Amino acid sequence: MTLKISSRGQIDPFIVMDVMRDANALDATGANIVHLEVGQPGTPAPERVREAAAAAALSERLGYTDAMGIVPLRERIARHYRDFYDVEVDPAGVVVTTGSSGSFLLSFLAAFDEGDRVALAAPGYPAYRNILSALGVEPVVVETRLEDRFQPTPELLGQVEGRIDGLIVASPSNPTGTMIDRAGMDELTQYCRKNGIRLISDEIYHGITYGHESVTALSFDPNALIINSFSKYFSMTGWRLGWMIVPPDMLRSIECLAQNLFISPPSLSQVAAMAAFDSLDELRENVVRYAKNREILLAELPKAGFDRLAPADGAFYIYADVGELTNDSAEFCRRMLTEAQVAATPGLDFDPYRGNAYVRFSFAGSEDDIIRGVQRLKDWRINTS
Ligand SMILES: Cc1ncc(COP(=O)(O)O)c(C=O)c1O
Repeated sequence: MTLKISSRGQIDPFIVMDVMRDANALDATGANIVHLEVGQPGTPAPERVREAAAAAALSERLGYTDAMGIVPLRERIARHYRDFYDVEVDPAGVVVTTGSSGSFLLSFLAAFDEGDRVALAAPGYPAYRNILSALGVEPVVVETRLEDRFQPTPELLGQVEGRIDGLIVASPSNPTGTMIDRAGMDELTQYCRKNGIRLISDEIYHGITYGHESVTALSFDPNALIINSFSKYFSMTGWRLGWMIVPPDMLRSIECLAQNLFISPPSLSQVAAMAAFDSLDELRENVVRYAKNREILLAELPKAGFDRLAPADGAFYIYADVGELTNDSAEFCRRMLTEAQVAATPGLDFDPYRGNAYVRFSFAGSEDDIIRGVQRLKDWRINTS
């Protein structure tokens, strides 16, 4: 007799994780892959964070904490909103989570019921779509356009058939790095308010921008649900720590969900993360390195035949239109990996409709990686064209 497996658990893979697994397997056989696939800083956590973690590991009990996170960290995050955005946040509305990934689960469960419809951009971060599907919430994919910097607009949302209960935006976006400016965020929040749409704003790449302002949706709508993380700007992916700014009507529900699903976010990471906000010099240096990597890729990728690139306003990605080179981005990336020894992510991860014509390159690694990577791509394209 076959045992039951749920159908809601049958979601799409997070393809970049599959690519990373294959690239790591090649590395294990002695290959020397250049990793332009994965979106994580090549740097460790800031030095002060590591020192604080070492001290806490030796001296503190590190038991469960409040489900919403330790109070000093919630207060420190609230202060960050004053310092960084000039926005007042009540620490009681700050919820510390297990990465922003934990925030997605909590916020989607708290905001939406089965059968609700949530709009999100394609190209966009695949986990939004896949987590919503697992929860029985319908992802409504809005195909965005280069002329709108691949971001949803009131005009595109107005073209959606049927009702929309929620909207997820990310600025800077993954995979395009494109951003929503102040005027755009104002229009979007007004549209959501007028149409009763719950806005969830993923602000995980704030701080990693190249001449563009990181605009929080909170400046325009106190009812927006804000998601952020220590993973990217703070260079702490493996510490699994993120946060949300939650409107008062959802706080108790999120607290109960967090208690039951996670008990608490990781306590060692919480204690150490306080020092992340005192490490701004080190973090700024990381952004300088990303900016340099970005310049190298923007100058050199066209020489390898990748000349249709989304404007990377922020984050650490370049989304390349490779429609003239392939109609199967997964196969194209497989060949790039085995023939050029360069790992990149097929656009299909981010866009179920047009993704076969796109590839995402990450420039979060070292400058040396970027230089070696583009040189290999240039040699590969010369040899294969
Ligand atoms: C847009 C976006 N949001 C959220 C995440 C998840 O980050 P974490 O769970 O490490 O906070 C990622 C990771 O790549 C991302 O690109």
